[in-house]
Amino acid sequence: MPAEVSSTVDTVVCSNAAALIADAAYRFTAIAAAATRSGRQFSVALSGGRTPAALYRVLAAQPFKSAIDWTATHLFFGDERCVPPESPFSNFAMAKQALIDPIGLPPANVHRIRAEQVDPANAAEEYALELGRFFGDASAPRFDLILLGMGPDGHTASLFPRRPALEENHKWVVSTEPGLEPYVPRITLTLPVLNSAANVLFLVTGEDKASTVARVLTGAPAPADLPSQSVHPVDGTLTWLVDRAAAAGIAADADAVRP
Ligand code: 6PG
Repeated sequence: MPAEVSSTVDTVVCSNAAALIADAAYRFTAIAAAATRSGRQFSVALSGGRTPAALYRVLAAQPFKSAIDWTATHLFFGDERCVPPESPFSNFAMAKQALIDPIGLPPANVHRIRAEQVDPANAAEEYALELGRFFGDASAPRFDLILLGMGPDGHTASLFPRRPALEENHKWVVSTEPGLEPYVPRITLTLPVLNSAANVLFLVTGEDKASTVARVLTGAPAPADLPSQSVHPVDGTLTWLVDRAAAAGIAADADAVRP
């Protein structure tokens, strides 16, 4: 594990994907409750991909549906593919189907990335303005929670290995070319935003991720090749929830192993 992240990464190995989703749902609920108890709106950036879709379906069902104050919950997106919002490739479409519609979340609480427009750079600028309207004039938005996945190439959100987006240290949102399918441009939050969050939660499942999980969490620092390694909130928690298959290369190093 790289020295600079070793003390603050909480790595939790869950027995399977269903156990991981349940653990993530409880964490989501606890972080939401902490925000709303202190009288604030709960801000969360959703991720795309297969794994979170299962989490969103669980959150939209009982007991979580009633345990979360949805009227005080604001959904944002960590990244989006440049496709229409009804496309099967759209992260918004996935969240809409799995969570937003089943909950009946008011449109004012959903802050999607308008990635369908012709110019991705413009879509990125517009989303930065949207963040500014919610978070105000901070140096970077401070999300209560950012959910992230990790691709087999080590990418997270749409921060792909060796792409300029990875170097961005000023803008909150940028457009980028993808490193993997679907090969459409992407809009992504940048590392300064991910690293300003109060809580970051990675959800990683499946044996195809095992070698990358081991490289990211226990290998030598390689930030250009492994973007996920650069996610390290400066004043927040960082938790990696991995199922046993994805943890095959690190289980002995994990902080907790759930039966
Ligand atoms: C996207 C994502 C991306 C995703 C990972 C893991 O839009 O593609 O936000 O970063 O989280 O690729 O996805 P899976 O959970 O499907 O493996």
